Amino acid sequence: MRERSYHIITFGCQMNVHDSQWLGRVLQRRGFAEGSLEEAQVVVVNTCSVREKPEQKVMSALGRIRQATNSNPDVLVVVTGCVAQQLGEELFRQPQVRLVAGSDGIASAPEAIERLLAEPDRKLSLLDFTSSYEEREEGVRAPSGPVAYVNIMQGCDNFCAYCIVPYTRGRQKSRLTAAVLDDCRKALEDGAREICLLGQNVNAFGRDKHGDGVSFADLLRQVAALPGLLRLRYVTPHPKDMGPEDVALFGELPNLCPRLHLPLQAGSDAVLARMGRKYDAARYIELTDALRAARPDIALSTDLIVGFPGESEEDFQQTLALMRRCGFMSSFSFCYSDRPGTRASRFLDKIAPDVQQDRLLRLQALQEELGQAWLDARIGQETDLLIEGESRRDDSSDGLRSWQGRDPYGALVHVGLPSADGDMTGRMVRVRLTEAKKHSLLGQQAGASW
Ligand code: SAH
Ligand code: SF4
Ligand code: F3S
Repeated sequence: MRERSYHIITFGCQMNVHDSQWLGRVLQRRGFAEGSLEEAQVVVVNTCSVREKPEQKVMSALGRIRQATNSNPDVLVVVTGCVAQQLGEELFRQPQVRLVAGSDGIASAPEAIERLLAEPDRKLSLLDFTSSYEEREEGVRAPSGPVAYVNIMQGCDNFCAYCIVPYTRGRQKSRLTAAVLDDCRKALEDGAREICLLGQNVNAFGRDKHGDGVSFADLLRQVAALPGLLRLRYVTPHPKDMGPEDVALFGELPNLCPRLHLPLQAGSDAVLARMGRKYDAARYIELTDALRAARPDIALSTDLIVGFPGESEEDFQQTLALMRRCGFMSSFSFCYSDRPGTRASRFLDKIAPDVQQDRLLRLQALQEELGQAWLDARIGQETDLLIEGESRRDDSSDGLRSWQGRDPYGALVHVGLPSADGDMTGRMVRVRLTEAKKHSLLGQQAGASW
């Protein structure tokens, strides 16, 4: 074990990834160094409980930690995130776990870690929700990757019937616009060229008692105007809160990328109503039509749940039909899973796992077809790539090195660039798309990089 070293294991959504990066940078500022699981003095597991599978992964990670550290009592195990919020002090049953910090509690985790290292017999839990978004301690400033994520809010007020997030992340709390802009500016100064704004329901930004009256559309305008920002994206919007102004911005802001991940969940009005999503299929279609009118080339992706309680085969067919109608370039799809405390967990008409699985496979087969059609249609087009790093595809030849990046639609593109150009990470490159692979594209350089 190495004194003052830490190791962070992250599960779950982009917000967790973001929280883990923040925690790492703060620990570094306090003199900790990142290390392997085997050598770390402080092991943090940042957890997700959105579905049963992610939660099980967390539990097996705790087992792995015990093994890797030989149950060394001097190793401080910290559990943060949604499972920590949900299970709380139950997690102390694993003796190495001495800090449990929930969604808001994570903000005080660095201090608590220091205290626990000084007081080896103590355990601490930080499970209270704060009443407003608390700005966090600053970590070390480090060069940013090409894409930076900036949190604009915490929590969610929607209480969709299946979802645990409002319980684990608490009520919606918007950050102040100035704080968001400040983070964006710093990220750009540190080298980011693309910013992705994060929240569980971004269109509702500012619409809680903690906001400063600036709407999401106004926030977007202000972020988009920051010097040096080449690309702007956001996740996750909610169809019920996505207003005409949010839609129109896709036609107005040149650096707002023509891609939207817009969770549909289901195509049947009856299922949507029981999910408590507060929109129907017609509204979703109207919204996607409006998005296409504002930005004809916009690419849409989505989240889908199959086998929600009471979902009939006919309901499911409506999901497939709507997927076709919207032509999603990609989707995340899940079998409905019971989450403790949610309304849907008390619904009686649960769907058998084999039926759920069968629907999931059929849905994913359709998605493959739609995704492939979307990729195929791109061949011959020119586009701009933001290079994110070296490509694992090894087709380097003739003095070319393989790189991968994303186009404005968020599609993954591999391209060979002259080895003599050196490290291309963070550069924008003009490419012509030549070939579609299963989930990515191949391109050739078609212009200078910048
Ligand atoms: N705030 C975002 C993300 C929520 S969690 C949103 O509203 O879209 C990410 C996805 O997990 C959801 O979109 C949903 O498709 C899925 N999900 C959430 N709870 C689930 C459950 N109990 N069973 C199956 N999938 C679930
Ligand atoms: Fe969960 Fe619904 Fe909130 Fe998304 S909008 S986090 S699915 S409650
Ligand atoms: Fe998971 Fe919590 Fe995110 S449940 S998806 S880590 S908000």
